[in-house]
Amino acid sequence: MKNKSKFKKIVVAYSGGLDTSIILLWLKEHYNCEIIACCVDVGQHQQFKKLYDKVKKDGASKLRIVDAKEEFVTEYIYPAIMANALYEDKYYLGSALSRPVIAKAIANIVKEENADAVCHGATGKGNDQIRFELAFKALIPNIKIIAPWREWNIQSRADAINYAKEKNIEIPITKSKPYSSDANLWHISYEGGILENLKTKYDESMFEMTVSPESAPDKPTYITIMFERGIPVAINGEKLQPIELISVLNKIAGANGIGRMDIVEDRLVGIKSRGVYECPAAVVLYTAHKELESITIDRDTLQFKHFLSSEYARIVYNGLWFSNLKEAFDAFVITTQKYVTGDIELKLYKGNVISSVKNSKFSLYFEKLATFEKDEMYNHKDAEGFINLWGLPLKIQSMFRK
Ligand code: ARG
Repeated sequence: MKNKSKFKKIVVAYSGGLDTSIILLWLKEHYNCEIIACCVDVGQHQQFKKLYDKVKKDGASKLRIVDAKEEFVTEYIYPAIMANALYEDKYYLGSALSRPVIAKAIANIVKEENADAVCHGATGKGNDQIRFELAFKALIPNIKIIAPWREWNIQSRADAINYAKEKNIEIPITKSKPYSSDANLWHISYEGGILENLKTKYDESMFEMTVSPESAPDKPTYITIMFERGIPVAINGEKLQPIELISVLNKIAGANGIGRMDIVEDRLVGIKSRGVYECPAAVVLYTAHKELESITIDRDTLQFKHFLSSEYARIVYNGLWFSNLKEAFDAFVITTQKYVTGDIELKLYKGNVISSVKNSKFSLYFEKLATFEKDEMYNHKDAEGFINLWGLPLKIQSMFRK
């Protein structure tokens, strides 16, 4: 079905992979308008420059490259750390956090180029389509969204390869992998293919950011992370820029076998899916941050914040990054981070992150109060009245409901 006059310009969220390469030509054939490919760098270690010529051969008029790494760390990863956002208690949200930053960069290009449609290569079964499209609805509400995977007849990777061959599209030379993966500064995910069977034991060689705990060094690595108002700013006393801080930590923690997980998670579209992830820096930073919060945030705020963490993760996972609710959560979280400043020393050892020394000028931990020895502030006798009143409802219930 040719629809010649529908759009004048389409911006494509382009990754350089097989799917989005096919998309360029497919769009050209279906919509016969100007196609602009846009790559957003969120730390996926790709040689984008090589793609300038390729996109033209595949049907686009040009390639735009946006470096969003720093924004990804400071505006997306740091808020997630401050919130301790962990989906279903396990997933560090690597892909979920990257989609809104990619979508925002694409939306800016749509505006700059004065395009009237935007296109992404996410399939119709996953979370990413939701995250991209919700972000587009929030940022460029009047722009038409095209999702080829929900429109075309291509149903599988084999179909996609055939289409590419038929149309003479150069298939990107990546090591062919029996699963799908998504990489950025914060994580690499592995899903689908051989991993769909929960009994499959994948090959060790799949991992790129971590060594196995068995092959990690026999001696522990001690590392000190310094936070200022909930944001990590230095490692072992050395101040680091955001991208460097995450990269350095990925290396140190990855070398100690930290950050691998093999989980089943609930996609928003109602499917339980298996995901294998590696996110070494994430595990270390969340651990350190929570340790620091334990001494710098008062009990009630800390416990309430804990409830909120899973809800925060849930809305981010479900694509609501640019929502009022998320903005309101951030306001709460930022307020809680006012005193989350200090240093946490951790011991990294064969896949484990073990907390050792905690230090903050705002610490609420009062050794003289915590002591088992006699102290000036706490009167043991006060506990008696407190317990009587705290337990009063229990006592009454027991008396009247016997
Ligand atoms: N299951 C994870 C999530 O929904 C990872 C998704 C990875 N995306 C991909 N296109 N491979 O966040």
